[in-house]
Amino acid sequence: MQFTSMILSNAEVSPGYWRMRMTAPPEFASATPGQFVMVRVNAAIDPLLRRPFGVFDVGVHIPAHSGAVAQPYLEMLYRVGGKGTAMLSALHETDLLDILGPLGKGFDLGDADEEKLIVGGGVGLAPLYLLAKELVKKSPVRLFAGGKTRDDILCITEFERLGVECYTATEDGSLGECGLVTEALVRRLDALSGKATIYACGPHGMLNAVANIASQRGIPCQVSLEGYMACGVGACLGCVAPGHKHSPETPDFRCVCTEGPVFESGELKWRD
Ligand SMILES: Cc1cc2nc3c(=O)[nH]c(=O)nc-3n(C[C@H](O)[C@H](O)[C@H](O)COP(=O)(O)OP(=O)(O)OC[C@H]3O[C@@H](n4cnc5c(N)ncnc54)[C@H](O)[C@@H]3O)c2cc1C
Ligand code: FES
Repeated sequence: MQFTSMILSNAEVSPGYWRMRMTAPPEFASATPGQFVMVRVNAAIDPLLRRPFGVFDVGVHIPAHSGAVAQPYLEMLYRVGGKGTAMLSALHETDLLDILGPLGKGFDLGDADEEKLIVGGGVGLAPLYLLAKELVKKSPVRLFAGGKTRDDILCITEFERLGVECYTATEDGSLGECGLVTEALVRRLDALSGKATIYACGPHGMLNAVANIASQRGIPCQVSLEGYMACGVGACLGCVAPGHKHSPETPDFRCVCTEGPVFESGELKWRD
């Protein structure tokens, strides 16, 4: 669905990271965790291409003043890294945005009788909050959040409020354990007695490590990819990722915007 959305709030939550709440049609409430939106960051020709963002949260906005109408909303959590996201960060309450979504295939919520282990790196936490919100209704959920510094560990209090047990790790040791968050994940997996499923989103190197850890232990793992996208609807093939059978002789590609962005990790090609 394509719709015009009005910004309700847009605030920097950590240096370089912003959280935007905007109005959404009531149908948007059925967005699946892991789905994404394509956003036109302004009405001008430049930048021409929409930018893809995960859906951080959906809900109903209750205005502070009495008499105002409650409004369905969606939220994005984004890192300012280039022209489009810099423009987004300059927008204010009541500014309008053109949005396409919800798009793509989201996470499979799996069985209730297993532990859910969520792994997020930096802004990769964005699509994992809505996922955690759904998973905690039926299963115990643990979050492993990693980043280079404490600035990259986002919205942990929100996850904790859901009842999620949170582990943090930073490469410079400024928050949580010093090191990679995958080390804490491995420790948890070593202590695990029952079944578990892993969900991950973040930099490709982190996803590669998580996919290998899951495959060595035979644990189901879903990853959400965040590459470049031009159209978001399967028309340009600019987003493809190599599938597990891919080789120069037998090309095997997955279209991230229509077949993903969430994949079973075993569907994709990873480095050993
Ligand atoms: C499914 C999905 C979900 C995402 N969710 C989030 C999220 O929740 N939060 C977040 O912060 N980020 C997210 N991202 C990444 C986000 O889309 C980028 O950070 C954003 O597009 C950067 O835009 P920019 O203009 O600021 O950066 P720039 O780097 O200036 O521009 C990025 C744009 O340049 C073009 N481009 C540049 N290089 C290439 C190339 N090699 N091939 C093709 N096109 C190219 C593309 O149009 C791309 O959209 C997501 C990406 C995907 C695919
Ligand atoms: S972004 Fe165009 S096909 Fe996926």
